[in-house]
Amino acid sequence: MSAQLLDGKAVAKRMHTDIKKDVAALQAESGVTPGLATVLVGDDDASRMYVKMKHNRCADVGIESFGHEIPPTASQEEVEKVIDDLNADPRVHGILVQLPLPDHLDTEPILDRIAVHKDVDGLHPLNIGALAIKGRMPMFTPATPTGCLVLLREAELLIDSFSIEGANAVVLGRSNLVGMPMALLLVENNATVTVAHSRTRDLQAVLADADIVVSAVGRPHMVPGEWIKHGAVVIDVATVKVDDPSAKKGYRWVGDVEPEEAMKRAAAMTPVPGGVGPMTVAMLLQNTLNAARRYHA
Ligand code: GUN
Repeated sequence: MSAQLLDGKAVAKRMHTDIKKDVAALQAESGVTPGLATVLVGDDDASRMYVKMKHNRCADVGIESFGHEIPPTASQEEVEKVIDDLNADPRVHGILVQLPLPDHLDTEPILDRIAVHKDVDGLHPLNIGALAIKGRMPMFTPATPTGCLVLLREAELLIDSFSIEGANAVVLGRSNLVGMPMALLLVENNATVTVAHSRTRDLQAVLADADIVVSAVGRPHMVPGEWIKHGAVVIDVATVKVDDPSAKKGYRWVGDVEPEEAMKRAAAMTPVPGGVGPMTVAMLLQNTLNAARRYHA
């Protein structure tokens, strides 16, 4: 048996269609156009490409976007001043600071400075904190783990016997951006959650009982397919560029989970690329639309 593909590209496309309609409806009702500001510090090619993709998708759905490119030599104060200006700009409903920032900058005070109601990346400590407190609702949840959750709900529709509630979920990686908020979202959805990381003693044993695997490490094929439990749902967040002389472009994109054997065992699995990546952008657009609605409610 082969796993069903969790086609993030298709799900994201559906979401874009709905968001585009909702943006048009908001404009018709209130004259408001949702606005997203991105802050890109430095000249990392991958970060620039991700930010460009976010602007392109904004344009597709009618969200206005404002790009702020800041030289790699910028001081902490200069970056914080940009955030202050965006907080005060009524055209901007959402602010995204592309990570990672250059080493000389202190990331936390910059993220803390974003107005909570404009924190469409869901990384402000008040939003993450609310996610961790039972009964509290964050204004926004981080885009990538929220996209993974939407794909898990998609798996619930595809596979009769699968439900997030009550499942044993293993999250690989404990980053602020993906692993930790993913674990919190899964707990919120009544899964039994284990967070595995670089000090985990026996990952194979931990995975042996995992009905859900969300892997966000970024180490190509670190999980042999044989470690995946039969019938599991596998979400591979990692997308790492590796040299491949046999590929037309000379490289290919690879996830954390070795897919060939994993596809034979899993009930459903995301492809790399085309799984989680497109969902991240769709969730960011949704959060920006929600921010604009709330701001003008
Ligand atoms: N860098 C890689 N992924 C993300 C993300 O989801 N948000 C931000 N701000 N930076 C990132």
